[in-house]
Amino acid sequence: MTGCPFASRRGFLAGGLAGGLAAGLAGVARAAPQGDVPRDAPPADAAAKGITAASQGPGRQESVPFRGARQAGILTPLQSHTYFAAFDLTTTRQAEVAALLARWTLAAEHMARGEAAQPDSPAPAPDPGADPAIPPRPRPAGDSGEAFGLAPARLSVTFGFGAGLFVRDGQDRYGLASRRPEALVDLPRFNGDQMQEARTGGDLSVQACADDPQVAFHAVRQLARIAGGVAVLRWVQSGFSANFAANDTPRNLMGFKDGTQNPLSRRPEESVGGAVRPATKDAVWVGEDGPAWMRGGSYLVVRRIRVALEHWDATDTEFQEQVMGRHKVSGAPLGGTSEFDPLDLDAVDADGNSVIPDTAHVRLAAAASNGGADMLRRGYSYNDGVNMVAERWPPWRQGLEYDSGLLFICYQRDPRAGFIPVFEQMSRLDMLNQYVTHTGGGLFACPGGAQGNGFIGQGLFEA
Ligand code: HEM
Repeated sequence: MTGCPFASRRGFLAGGLAGGLAAGLAGVARAAPQGDVPRDAPPADAAAKGITAASQGPGRQESVPFRGARQAGILTPLQSHTYFAAFDLTTTRQAEVAALLARWTLAAEHMARGEAAQPDSPAPAPDPGADPAIPPRPRPAGDSGEAFGLAPARLSVTFGFGAGLFVRDGQDRYGLASRRPEALVDLPRFNGDQMQEARTGGDLSVQACADDPQVAFHAVRQLARIAGGVAVLRWVQSGFSANFAANDTPRNLMGFKDGTQNPLSRRPEESVGGAVRPATKDAVWVGEDGPAWMRGGSYLVVRRIRVALEHWDATDTEFQEQVMGRHKVSGAPLGGTSEFDPLDLDAVDADGNSVIPDTAHVRLAAAASNGGADMLRRGYSYNDGVNMVAERWPPWRQGLEYDSGLLFICYQRDPRAGFIPVFEQMSRLDMLNQYVTHTGGGLFACPGGAQGNGFIGQGLFEA
C-alpha cells in the first residue's frame, strides 16, 4: 500500500474523513467505520442501509493473491458472482498490447488486495476555473470509486487470449501468429448453435469473480477504462451462484445441483497448498505439451446458454430427472441414493433399459463416455430480465420470456481433449437440448500466472 489516501479502498474513506473531502461523498464517509468493519457486526447506520452481517461477512474480508505460478480464479473455490468480459484490440502495435497487459496486471493485483485500481496515478490537476470558495470535490486518481469502502471479497481476475491476438482475418496483426498455440483452435460450429456475433469471440478475456457483485463489476470497469485507446469491450456477461453461503453444491436455474461431479470446485481442501489431485492436474493445467508461456495455464471455454425456463417449468419432475440423469432434490444419480454416489452407467432396469437414459445429460457429459475427456466446470447462472414474444401463428403465444440460463465456463488443458469432443456428442444427442440454446461464447488461452514483477502473458511477448 502507498501513502496515497486512495491506495486502499478503506484508506480512501479514512482520507476522505481526515481531509474533509467534498459533499459528494460525505454520506458515504459518514457511513464508513472508523476502523475495520467488525466481521459479524456491521455498524448500526450500515444496517439501516441494508448492509447485513452476511453481506460484509467473514468471506468478504478475504483476499485471493493475484500473483503466483497459476492464475487465480480457476481452482479458487467459486465466488458468488462473476463479471465476464471479452475485449477487441484496437491498436496495431504489439508493444501497446504488452503495455496494456502490464497495466492490467498491476491494476488486478491492487484490486485483489482491496485497493484502488491505480493508486499511484497522479491526481488530476486542479481545475483552474474552479471557485476557490467551494471545497474541491474528491477526484481520486486511477479509480472510478464505486468499490471504495468495500472489502476485497475474494476478487480474482483471470486473463485469457483469444485467437484474434494471433491472427484475425488472415492477418498476423502483432507478429505473434507463429506463437499461436495449437490448442487455441477455432471452435467448430456445433449442432444447434445460435451464436450471436455480438456475444461471441474477442481478442482478450477477463473473468472477474468476487463475493460481491459490485467488486466484480468494478474490476472489469477499471480494466476497460485503463484499456482506453488499445482495447474496447466486445461483450460482457454477469452471473451468480446460489447456495454459496451454505457451502452446498449450488443449484442452477433448472433447480438441479450443478457441480457435483467436479470435485475441486466442491472440495477446495483437495487443492490446499497447491497439492492438486493428479487427475485434475492432468485435466486442467497445460504442461510440457504447451508453449512455455502457457505452462501452468489453462484453456477457458465460455458459452452463454439460454435456458427455456417456461418450457422446463411445464415439464414434470420425473422427466426432468430423466433429462439430467440425476434426482432433483438429492442430486443422486438415477439408481443411487445420495449426491456423491458414483454414476453407474451400466445399470439396467427389469426391462433391460438403462437406468441413466442413453441420452441423459450426465451420461453424455461423463468422462467415461468420452474416452476420458475431462474439464473443470466453473459456471454461473445468469439472469438478463425478459424479452417480449409475440407470435402470429397458433398457439398465438404472447408474453414475456426470461432471458436467463447458464454462463457455462470450463477450464481444461486442451479443448481438443475436453470441451470439443464432449460437446460434439452432447450437442447432437443430449435430451437437455430441448431446453437450452447456446447464444454466445468463446475460447481463450489463459497463460500461467504473473510471477515476480512480471506481467500476465509476458513470456508470449518475449518468446
Ligand atoms: C444449460 C446447460 C447445462 C446445464 C443446466 C447443465 C447441468 C448439469 C447438471 C445438473 C449436472 C449434474 C451435476 C454435476 O455433476 O455437476 C451436470 C453435469 C455435467 N455437465 Fe452439464 N449442464 C449444462 C451444460 C453443459 C455443457 C455445455 C457441458 C460441456 C460440454 C457440460 C458438462 C458437464 C459435465 C462434464 C458434467 C459432469 C458429468 C459427470 O461426470 O457426471 N454441461 N450438468
